[in-house]
Amino acid sequence: MLDLWAILVFIIPPYIANAAPVVLGGGPPVDFGAVAWDKRRWLGDGKTWRGLAAGVGAGALASALLSYLLSAPWILLMGTLASCGAMLGDLAGSFIKRRMGIERGKPSFVMDQLLFIVFALVLAAPVLVHELPAVLRAESVATIMVLTYVMHRAANIAANRLGLKKVPW
Ligand code: CTP
Ligand code: MG
Repeated sequence: MLDLWAILVFIIPPYIANAAPVVLGGGPPVDFGAVAWDKRRWLGDGKTWRGLAAGVGAGALASALLSYLLSAPWILLMGTLASCGAMLGDLAGSFIKRRMGIERGKPSFVMDQLLFIVFALVLAAPVLVHELPAVLRAESVATIMVLTYVMHRAANIAANRLGLKKVPW
């Protein structure tokens, strides 16, 4: 049986972490405008310090709330790790996109939709192993990937229609 409850508890913080920068981001970019060896930006203007702080902060806040509501202290640790992972994965995605010559804001299926959740899983794994092992099973990971793809597409289309994002991806 697929443990959808466990999956939900796991994905909420990194999803919130990933969405927060779209609304709260801006200001100086993480790479401060610097270019890498290939003369392209390290990360680009789409990755800002404020977005990074907003993502980790919002994810940690959501984790604290979940932790309190479900009376499970470990959720705060799991969710904060997953949120940091989501932000790290997002940075890694932009880094890889720039190295591949994909410009800021141009879509890349794996980097945009899936890398953040893979990093969230990896960083939260030490807590998940003990507290929520159902999430680490192959069928759960597969479900998380499909769910994340669908949710990410839907959220970006909604953000585009609401005028929060210029492009629907
Ligand atoms: N954002 C931010 N800081 C971050 C992540 C995102 O400020 N660490 C904001 C930026 O305004 C960004 C928007 O959220 O444009 C959407 O994020 P994302 O789709 O990840 O960035 P892109 O602009 O598409 O850039 P990239 O091609 O590097 O993914
Ligand atoms: Mg994008």
